[in-house]
Amino acid sequence: SHSPWTGRPIVLVGLMGVGKSTVGRRLAARLSLPFADADHEIEAAAGLSVTEIFDRFGEPYFRDGERRVIGRLMDGTPKVIATGGGAFVNDETRNLILEQGLAVWLNASPDVLAERVRRRDTRPLLRGRDPKTVLTDLASRRDPYYALAPIHVSSQRGPHEATVNAILKAIG
Ligand code: S3P
Repeated sequence: SHSPWTGRPIVLVGLMGVGKSTVGRRLAARLSLPFADADHEIEAAAGLSVTEIFDRFGEPYFRDGERRVIGRLMDGTPKVIATGGGAFVNDETRNLILEQGLAVWLNASPDVLAERVRRRDTRPLLRGRDPKTVLTDLASRRDPYYALAPIHVSSQRGPHEATVNAILKAIG
């Protein structure tokens, strides 16, 4: 079951480590569309890193900025947007994406995600914690929301180019 792509912004959602930024950048290149990374846009707008925003102002403040930045990116022009892992769990942000974009849930098992994030882990939700424990917990709480995306694609096996091909096939 999938919605055909009609030129609306393609919005990648899913857990940390699933490949939203890398896959999104490559997908945009294949479609000759602009690419935007919501976390980078938030950092540029705030002049602070995601970690600094969490530390200084807290997660609710970050979620609010995330919603505004994604709202601004959803300007009706075709593009590919990578979101941070919590964006689609926020009711307002999710509704914005569902109404104005084509959401694609990229998924992989918590085991695989934990291996991927272990290498370069500065994310505030993972600091000082066991990634597998955190990601297993986040998956159980967030998967019901991610599942609301009309398109589901696995990045379990990789490589990224295969995931891009699977998305292109799914969006028809
Ligand atoms: C978060 C994921 C991060 C970033 C922030 C919070 C989350 O983005 O937005 O650290 O709540 O899952 P990535 O999914 O790109 O790591």
